[in-house]
Amino acid sequence: MTTLTAHPGSLADPRTHAAGDAHAIWRWMRENAPVHWHEPGHLPGFWSLTRYDDVRAAYRDPQTFSSRSGVLLRPAELGRDPGGGLTLALTDPPRHKQLRAIVADWFTARSVRGLEDAMRTAVKAVLARALEQGECDVVHDIAGRLSIYVIGHLVGVPEEDHETLFRWTNEAFAAHISLAAHQDLMRYFIALMDRRMAEPGDDLVSALIGGTIDDRLLTEEEILLNCENLVGATENGRLALAGGILALLRYPEQWARLTAEPDLLPSAVEEILRWTSSATHSMRTATAPVEVRGHRIEPGDRVVLWVPSANRDETVFSAPDRFDVARKPNRHLAFGGGEHFCLGAVLARAEMRILFGEFLATVAKFELTGPVEPVASINVGGPETLPIRLTGK
Ligand code: HEM
Repeated sequence: MTTLTAHPGSLADPRTHAAGDAHAIWRWMRENAPVHWHEPGHLPGFWSLTRYDDVRAAYRDPQTFSSRSGVLLRPAELGRDPGGGLTLALTDPPRHKQLRAIVADWFTARSVRGLEDAMRTAVKAVLARALEQGECDVVHDIAGRLSIYVIGHLVGVPEEDHETLFRWTNEAFAAHISLAAHQDLMRYFIALMDRRMAEPGDDLVSALIGGTIDDRLLTEEEILLNCENLVGATENGRLALAGGILALLRYPEQWARLTAEPDLLPSAVEEILRWTSSATHSMRTATAPVEVRGHRIEPGDRVVLWVPSANRDETVFSAPDRFDVARKPNRHLAFGGGEHFCLGAVLARAEMRILFGEFLATVAKFELTGPVEPVASINVGGPETLPIRLTGK
């Protein structure tokens, strides 16, 4: 086992990530300790994988690296993740495939194309509001509102309740509690489920209600947990949208290039995804003994895949610490990989393309008006607040 003497900062500590110190640690680990054991502390012991190839291989081997016991590190005193074996993200094959098939239709390229007009209208509305006010917080007023409106629409939350859903999810994200722990929100989902049981609609809740696995309907608990999981997963989207605006603020020459060459928008979106890597880690639990770079991982061991580290691996990306909207190739792992590859990837990419496209079309100038507060978490990364002043064209 390797001791991390060169870099005392701990990856298990949210403050390391908030302070922006994690990349230096990961860089050191990729070079010196790509498979590293962290002794138990406030979190149980775990292995870290930091190289692109190792992270990608683990994502692609759900037989050895299981998601059933949870996909995020959590303190031992919290016990097992209640969604284990029940939600999409926390299920292994073959059950996972059946569960994914129930909701997959809403996330295909075709379905997302059908949503694009509504998304563009929502983006135009949030941007117009921000331009009118002259100042706004990108995370709250633009990225957060857009992400929740879109998923609210898909889940089947009526439009008049979107603002309430937005408020409750904000409260849960800010408190770093799961959406399931937010009582008003869960009560709302229970009532929504009851309504859709009586009168199904063309939405995700109705699909979950009618969905079967091995010819058995999902239980109410499974329906609720999966709803919560789908809404909660959008936190990544909001952080990537806001993180993208932040990157363009920090690298004005990249914004200038994008303004001059708007055809670069799709590659800029990929670079923002790589750069922000808003899902900081995915955890797996080994199901069998496995050797990775000479280290023996035992069944039951937790293995943490650090996504931002894989996305800065210098053996895969040239000048990985450079933000480059024209980067090609760019085979980042921001959406994970294998069976659990992000279900919302097409949706998230479309939201980003539309938001940044409208930004290019309508915003002449934007600048920071206050400090950028980072999210303090080992699960997700990005700005918690991003206050800006913006001027229209
Ligand atoms: C830029 C934004 C996003 C990023 C970076 C991101 C990242 C990820 C990653 C890394 C995973 C794999 C987790 C694992 O294997 O343990 C994942 C899975 C997932 N994501 Fe996203 N995500 C984003 C946006 C979204 C959105 C908008 C949704 C909409 C509902 C979504 C829904 C999901 C779901 C349901 C899964 C689980 C899929 C499965 O287990 O089969 N994501 N995401």
